[in-house]
Amino acid sequence: MSLFITLEGPEGSGKTSAMKIVLEQLKNDGYDIITTREPGGTPISEQIRNVILDKDNTKMDSITEAMLYAASRRQHLVEKIWPALKENKLVFCDRYLDSSLAYQGFARGNDVEKILEINKFATDGTFPDLTLLFDLEPEIGLERINKNKGREVNRLDLENITFHHKVREGYLILAARYQDRFVIIDASKPLEEVVEAAYQAIKNKLGE
Ligand code: TMP
Repeated sequence: MSLFITLEGPEGSGKTSAMKIVLEQLKNDGYDIITTREPGGTPISEQIRNVILDKDNTKMDSITEAMLYAASRRQHLVEKIWPALKENKLVFCDRYLDSSLAYQGFARGNDVEKILEINKFATDGTFPDLTLLFDLEPEIGLERINKNKGREVNRLDLENITFHHKVREGYLILAARYQDRFVIIDASKPLEEVVEAAYQAIKNKLGE
C-alpha cells in the first residue's frame, strides 16, 4: 500500500528531529519508506531551492516565489514521488504544497485560491494522504533556531514575527479546511510525546 505523507509546520517546530525517530520505528516495523524534502529532493529542484532561499534575492516577487516552489515541486513529483508511490512505498516529504499556501498565500498576503490553482496545475492535483502539522508558537520556534546554530539561516527565517504568526494561522485554517488529511501535533510538548503522537497518527492512517 502506498501512502503520501507530508510534514508541515513553522520554523523550528522540531518536525525533522521528531520524524527521524518515528521513521526508525516505522522501518523497524517493516515498512518500505522513502524520505525527501521541499524545496529540493532532486538535483534540479535543489538548484531551484538555492535561487528561492538565497539571502541576496531580496527583490524576488512573491508570485515568482510561488511559481518557483511549484516548479520545484513538479520536478520532485516526476522524478521521485510519483515513481515511489507507484512502487507502493510510504513517501515522507518534509514540506509540500501546504507550505506554499501558508507562506506564499496566507503570510505573503497573496490570494490563497490563486496559489492553490498554481499548485493544482503543477502537481496534477496530487494531494497528500496525510499531513502532520507540527504546530508551535512562532516565538518558541524561532528561539529554538537561534539556539541551534548548526542550522542554516534562510531568507524566510529573516521575516518578522508577524509573518511567522500569519504562517501559523494559515496552517490552522488549512487544517480546518482539509480535516480529512490533516492531523495537528502539539510540537511544544516534550520530544517523546511529539514522536508518539506522530507515530500513532501514521499508524491510524495505515489502519493499524
Ligand atoms: P526548511 O529547510 O526549514 O524547510 O526551509 C524551507 C523554507 O521554505 C521554509 O522557510 C518554508 C519555505 N517554504 C515556502 O515558503 N513555501 C514552500 O512551498 C515550501 C516547500 C517551503
